Amino acid sequence: MKKLLCLALALMMALTLFGCRAETAATEAPAEETPAEAPAEAPAEEEAPAEEAAAETPNVDAIKEAGKLVMLTNAGFAPYEFLGPDNNIVGVDVEIAGAIAAELGVELEVVDMDFDAIIFALQSGKGDLGVAGMTNTPERAETVDFSINYVDTNQMIIVPEGSDITGPEGLAGKTIGVQMGTTGDLFVTDNIEGANVQRYKTGPDAGAELAAGKLDAVVIDAGPAAQIAGANAGLMVLETPATPEPEQYAIAIAKGEEDLKAVVDSVLEKLIADGQVQAWIDEYNEISSQESAA
Ligand code: ARG
Repeated sequence: MKKLLCLALALMMALTLFGCRAETAATEAPAEETPAEAPAEAPAEEEAPAEEAAAETPNVDAIKEAGKLVMLTNAGFAPYEFLGPDNNIVGVDVEIAGAIAAELGVELEVVDMDFDAIIFALQSGKGDLGVAGMTNTPERAETVDFSINYVDTNQMIIVPEGSDITGPEGLAGKTIGVQMGTTGDLFVTDNIEGANVQRYKTGPDAGAELAAGKLDAVVIDAGPAAQIAGANAGLMVLETPATPEPEQYAIAIAKGEEDLKAVVDSVLEKLIADGQVQAWIDEYNEISSQESAA
């Protein structure tokens, strides 16, 4: 009797278990197959590509959402960025960044800071682009991405008229002014034998010290060198560049922002191809010269 009861119980349990499983299977199966459930799954499948598309331009989307493109620069570098007649920052780089902002359909915000702070500020998300007559160097390219190059230039030497320095060989052992953290600074520091390097916040600061007789020379990029010499009576730019190697300006972008870099490159390509970059260089050289003449 006891045995029979046990058997019956076991049979019931087995049936219950089987029944449950069958039921589970039955409820799951239609969920995958019934047309009623299909629409619920279909949008999920449609969303996936949409999400992927969004993931392709996350940085551009963020800029559009913010409604502004933030350009980090160091004004005091005419004709690329300097205080214009109305005391706002103007120049070739501001125009270029403005064209990129227009392409994105957003406002441009210009943030002025020390030149040697730009890369770190970019890395820490304080801005979208470093547009500062920044030379594209392999060392910097380890920490930021660069756009295509948009200007070819050289490091030049500014001296007082009548200086005994007539070329790069003459720089050895001299007191030389540079803008801190620039390629001019690196060149003089690393390559000029016995140089007493004086580092300034801006090129014009160095130029003023040179004009005041406190320096023997200033080494800086060709564009600002001409502007500094033009703005200070008695200064001139030597014909021979300080470095035999030319350098190229590019826009710095935080590492991995491929979508933003693509927009920047396409705008730059167009501006270079139609001569607009050169036209702006001429225009802002003129504006800067008039300003210092006034
Ligand atoms: N081309 C030089 C460099 O990249 C100097 C740039 C200085 N730019 C400026 N906006 N102050 O180091």
